[in-house]
Amino acid sequence: MTLPALARRKLRGTRDLVLDTWDSITGRRAPLVPPRRLRFVGDGDFGAIGREFVGHLQTLARLTPDARVLDVGCGIGRLAIPLLDVLSARGRYDGFDIVPRAIRWCRSAIAPRHPGFTFTLADLGNGAYRRRAPRSAATYRFPYPDASFDVVVAMSLFTHLLPDEARNYVREIGRVLTPGGHCLTTWFVRNAQSEALLEAGRSAIAFTAAHGECLVTDPAVPEAAIAYPQATIMAMHEGAGLDAVTLHPGAWCGRSRFTSGQDIVVASRPAADPSGVPRAVAGSQIARDNGTTVDVAR
Ligand SMILES: C[S@@+](CC[C@H](N)C(=O)[O-])C[C@H]1O[C@@H](n2cnc3c(N)ncnc32)[C@H](O)[C@@H]1O
Repeated sequence: MTLPALARRKLRGTRDLVLDTWDSITGRRAPLVPPRRLRFVGDGDFGAIGREFVGHLQTLARLTPDARVLDVGCGIGRLAIPLLDVLSARGRYDGFDIVPRAIRWCRSAIAPRHPGFTFTLADLGNGAYRRRAPRSAATYRFPYPDASFDVVVAMSLFTHLLPDEARNYVREIGRVLTPGGHCLTTWFVRNAQSEALLEAGRSAIAFTAAHGECLVTDPAVPEAAIAYPQATIMAMHEGAGLDAVTLHPGAWCGRSRFTSGQDIVVASRPAADPSGVPRAVAGSQIARDNGTTVDVAR
């Protein structure tokens, strides 16, 4: 990080601390609004984005009130908070993340409000979020048994994982999903349309450097933002035994019609899978902006 960037970060941290302290003294911050110094999960309206993704989970990943939900890279509970009002007493939510202060806040502010909500710290490193942790996500086994979740979600996580980590995480998602369960993950997907928009300078994110077959914004910290070829994402899902992969295009690269900010990938674990052996991906589709779907050329 350059000196001016470091100085700006320090200044922002001090300002946030002062404002958080003032909010605590005056009691102005609502109990489920994270303090400013913890808001490292991206720009935009924190509450609105969480509610938007609950809607996507309901319409695209068959989320029901009694579902068992895993939130991979749960951050400071952007999704957990609106799920408090959606999941029934029979429903369950597990979230894990690598940032200790985020998990501490989720445990103290969110978990006490629902008996089925649990937050876990994964002691792993990431160039953008936790530099000084030695363990890599590339070999991490999620701390849950096989087939224990109906819905697995990862919002704005694969946009920060390196290829070996992403491959392992998609595989782990396939392992912990129950047969018939759905996963919904977000990515920056490199395909003909996004590449054309990138070349035309329409993208909001400057993917200017190559990192293997991926594009990144900062070669020194590839985890800051990483875009994967669509074929690679499809192959990762196939390798994890996940089926019926659909892609719902995002606005990030300058599209005028989109489902969300990032590209959303939805897939399911085949319901009839008695052998436990991953099956070939039966059908993969792009969900077009207007709601129609077309086959993805792979
Ligand atoms: C952009 S934030 C998104 C957080 C949350 N999903 C949301 O949408 O509010 C990315 C999150 O991924 C987490 N993260 C990074 N690497 C991770 C890993 N290997 N396993 C789990 N979480 C990770 C970061 O700590 C951070 O909370």
